[in-house]
Amino acid sequence: MHPRLSALAALRLTDPEQKVAATRATVALAATDSIATAPIRTEGDDLGVPGRPERPLRVAATAVQKRSPFTPEGRAALIHSICHIEFNAINLALDAVWRYDGMPEAYYRDWLRVADEEALHFTLLHAHLQDMGYRYGDFPGHDGLWNMCEKTKDDVLARMALVPRTLEARGLDATPLIQAKLKRVNTPDALRAVEILDVILRDEVGHVAIGNHWYRWLCDRAGIDPEAAYPGLVARYDAPRHKPPFNLEAILRAPTGQDGFGLVNFRQPNDADQIAYLDVWLRDLPPNRYYSVKYATDANVDGDCTSTDWVDLPRPHRPNPIHTDDRGTGRGSLFLDLSAFPVGSTFDIHFEVVDAFGGTIMLTSDCYQFTVTQ
Ligand SMILES: [Fe+2]
Ligand SMILES: [Fe+2]
Repeated sequence: MHPRLSALAALRLTDPEQKVAATRATVALAATDSIATAPIRTEGDDLGVPGRPERPLRVAATAVQKRSPFTPEGRAALIHSICHIEFNAINLALDAVWRYDGMPEAYYRDWLRVADEEALHFTLLHAHLQDMGYRYGDFPGHDGLWNMCEKTKDDVLARMALVPRTLEARGLDATPLIQAKLKRVNTPDALRAVEILDVILRDEVGHVAIGNHWYRWLCDRAGIDPEAAYPGLVARYDAPRHKPPFNLEAILRAPTGQDGFGLVNFRQPNDADQIAYLDVWLRDLPPNRYYSVKYATDANVDGDCTSTDWVDLPRPHRPNPIHTDDRGTGRGSLFLDLSAFPVGSTFDIHFEVVDAFGGTIMLTSDCYQFTVTQ
């Protein structure tokens, strides 16, 4: 079977365990075969999409009751809500594989990889939920997740722009806060949940990067400026705004054919200090090593980053390397002193991630523009 039709079959399944198994089988099928890029869509083939179980009851996001994670039932409700997100995320990834004809093979492979990872996330969380004495479906779940998919079903560019950012990027922001809370709870089940969330966080960095990569690729093909088009897409599809507002989000990629992703969220609060905060996420790099994040700027604002005057973050000559864990994931909160730049000035900026001792360049970013505000 064509891997994309196999993805459709998995997408239609309503039983979560069967969906996970069918997703894994689809990924295995595609691993050994090429994915033909000829169109596969036919009239009325969206019947039964997305397949989902009768329970959880689907309710409005505002109707989901907030419970304290300091009670066992509250923790079960919290794990259930993340489990629900992951179930929807499997459907979203399978949908991205099946729905859009005319994309390059690498696109389908990227989204199959996402589907596989979402299936793992669901499985880990559901097993944990069952250890706690509950099952998926025992609590209501909110229905906002599929809505953005529905709205963008005829527009792959809008889908790539909005879904990874609304779902996955918000997850990136929320997860460390949830983990901090669960660490305070400090029971064995809470600590196990923190471990599972580590796996999820590692993978979601890649999902955001994949979404952004294909958004930029589609913009490029359509001759659209991705940064300029984004606010219009948010407004047209009534997408949730990404909070806190990121002034800049830079993607770091490994040289072709190698593993590794990075994401830099560059945030400049509206206060008197001319400091920008940079949250850096790394994944799939060689484990247990130190990496420095460097940037270079030039004042000739033309989207062509000509400077190779690399400066270590957080400040010149004081490198603060990020350490990767056993799985090759690392995270660092760095900062950049902007006081040398006049308010209102704009510059070209690009980033690279370098092995702190060997000096090998592991990841590089495109060229971005940044404006100093106050
Ligand atoms: Fe996930
Ligand atoms: Fe994801």
